[in-house]
Amino acid sequence: MYRDIEKRAKEILSEMTLKAKIGQVTQINFMGNNVDEVAEKIREYGIGSVILSNSQFAGFVEQESVKLDRMTYFQKLSTEESPNGIPLLIGRDVIHGHNIIFPINLGMAASFDPELIKSVYECIRAEAADDGINWTYSPMLDFCHDPRWGRIVEGQGEDPYLASKMAAAIVRGFQGDDLSTEGVLAACAKHYVGYGASEGGRDYNHTEISDYALQNNYLPAFRGAVNAGVATVMNSFNEINGVPVAASRKALTDILRGQLGFEGFVISDWASIAQLKNHGLAQDNKEAASLAIKAGIDMDMVDNCYFDYMEELVNEGTVSLNELDTAVLRILKIKLKMGLFERPYQKHTEINLEEHAAKAKQACESSFVLLKNSNSLLPLKANTNICIAGPFADLIEEHTGSWALEKGGIEIKSFRAAVTAVAGEKAIIEDFDGLSQHYLIPRNSDVVICALGEPRRVTGEAQSLTSIEISNEQKALLKHLKRSGKPIVGVMFYGRPTALQEVEPYLDAIIYCWHSGSMSTVAAADVIYGKSEPTGRLPVTLPRVTGQIPLYYNALPGARHMNGYYGESGHDILNYNDCEGTPLYPFGYGLSYTGFQYSSVKAECDKLSLEDIKSGASFNISVGVKNTGALDGTEVVQLYIRDSIASRVRPLRELKGFKKLKIKAGEEVRVCFEIGYDELGFYLENGEYTVEKGKFEVFVVSNCLTDNKLEISIL
Ligand code: BGC
Repeated sequence: MYRDIEKRAKEILSEMTLKAKIGQVTQINFMGNNVDEVAEKIREYGIGSVILSNSQFAGFVEQESVKLDRMTYFQKLSTEESPNGIPLLIGRDVIHGHNIIFPINLGMAASFDPELIKSVYECIRAEAADDGINWTYSPMLDFCHDPRWGRIVEGQGEDPYLASKMAAAIVRGFQGDDLSTEGVLAACAKHYVGYGASEGGRDYNHTEISDYALQNNYLPAFRGAVNAGVATVMNSFNEINGVPVAASRKALTDILRGQLGFEGFVISDWASIAQLKNHGLAQDNKEAASLAIKAGIDMDMVDNCYFDYMEELVNEGTVSLNELDTAVLRILKIKLKMGLFERPYQKHTEINLEEHAAKAKQACESSFVLLKNSNSLLPLKANTNICIAGPFADLIEEHTGSWALEKGGIEIKSFRAAVTAVAGEKAIIEDFDGLSQHYLIPRNSDVVICALGEPRRVTGEAQSLTSIEISNEQKALLKHLKRSGKPIVGVMFYGRPTALQEVEPYLDAIIYCWHSGSMSTVAAADVIYGKSEPTGRLPVTLPRVTGQIPLYYNALPGARHMNGYYGESGHDILNYNDCEGTPLYPFGYGLSYTGFQYSSVKAECDKLSLEDIKSGASFNISVGVKNTGALDGTEVVQLYIRDSIASRVRPLRELKGFKKLKIKAGEEVRVCFEIGYDELGFYLENGEYTVEKGKFEVFVVSNCLTDNKLEISIL
């Protein structure tokens, strides 16, 4: 099959003119109002792809709704009237939903449930395909330690292992088992690589990444996507070692293809070829085009550098025909693998939006993280008298988060309406309208439910903040409400981790709900009343204050046993004199409405030889987990390792396994993990994977700060 594709691609290529080849490596944007311009370019050049977007900025500019008929029209032109009849890739940023919006990706990472996420993306792809889209710019896999960066919302959090599992799940959800299956979308792993290291969390900024960190922190999610068969990759805007990725042959060819084994094609991020001028690497678009194609960018997104200059570059010999052909072939092969030549059109299918909404609700419940629940305040009993307050009680659009371009199909309820639907009108005996009724004190309610959050427009692309604390108005509101002496439930709708130290004492219960899309509020109301349970665990650390950033669990040990995250302090010195070193809530943390007790960790055998490990032997590690509460509940059992002595400094803990399971009240289950070659090694700076002899601590716990460990050795 593969050889067939290669052969066919070469045959098609042999019939293409230079002009048509340049068309193939070009993506133009369809902005809704430029139908004729797009049609003309397709007819004349056989353009490779159209992106349905009129701005790159996280979709905050109103976008033209996608219509199947229009897409079919473009596809028809492409296959019937363009020079070689090559079908078109029709791309859009379908990120965490199309019609029905699911939780932001950071929220979905909190589910620790790749199978669920795969099924989420099956729904998303069906809706997008139904509108004629056949290519998406997702998953976004930027490893990030700085929540001031607005794009942390799009990624999978601070752990490379979790991110690689989520990456594979999203790719499989979009692409199915086989790219040629009807109704699937080609996925695009982005932004390759290192964009999440933007200094100070300032978007589009400089990044400083060692080869060692690149291999172990930034690349694993891309390895996950490539191993899952991702069809395309998008480069990042940043530079590494002084070379912008758009011009880096090392990153785009040596590492991506040579080390990771990627076989699809690379698209540039929006105008990132032309931006080589801004980096000071190219003097003009022509030089930028030459640098990019030589580095390994196969298709140019919207900035026309290839379109305008490739002919000249090839004719004068700066770019060889072979270099251009390589790019064209890669694009053709993906189109062939997708079966676009046989079946170019996406079709309308029966889509049950109700079912997708139910899946979205399930994703919300799996992503919500219960951070605090003093005196088992939650779930509330049906007859509790409540007061609803907070600015997010009435907001609707904000729940859709960044990158929700299409959205529609079901009406999003306000939080107030959703709670009213569950609790009944009579339960709400005091109803405060957002921030405007600051002066009111809830006197008659048993519990205050306060809906807090950040606007979606302070998250996403080109949105960075200096402070990740909740707004002063919302802080003031909480302090004021607390004067009532009533217990307060904080329902937090945020697109990034927030620093809650100042307000945490005012809140008796906290549920972190992210920006969770179409079913966010309905799910939140159900969770509050115990109709379902919040089962998410933090995929990122919640620091106490902004100044602790960067604060992440997989930290390296440092020289003097002073890693505050783990409560260490050296000679009475703290990390900071004015703040505790621990996070407010650590990675992997999340409570349940019931309680779990872990028995000590056991290993069937605690010593194996390196030879055996290399030939596939693994340690069988297990733990008993008992539901000690009165309710059935879901636990995420997490396995971390620490490579105690190694040839490189290794993190204090590294997640290497997790299992999410429902355990009945009173029941005890044995949870087993196998850890071997893939889990016990790390990458050297040159990309070589190594497993070394020595001792490892293995923790099987409910979050990264709990202790339940044993020691194993590789001899
Ligand atoms: C973003 C990408 C996005 C592209 C197309 C860029 O500005 O960085 O994530 O896929 O625009 O909209």
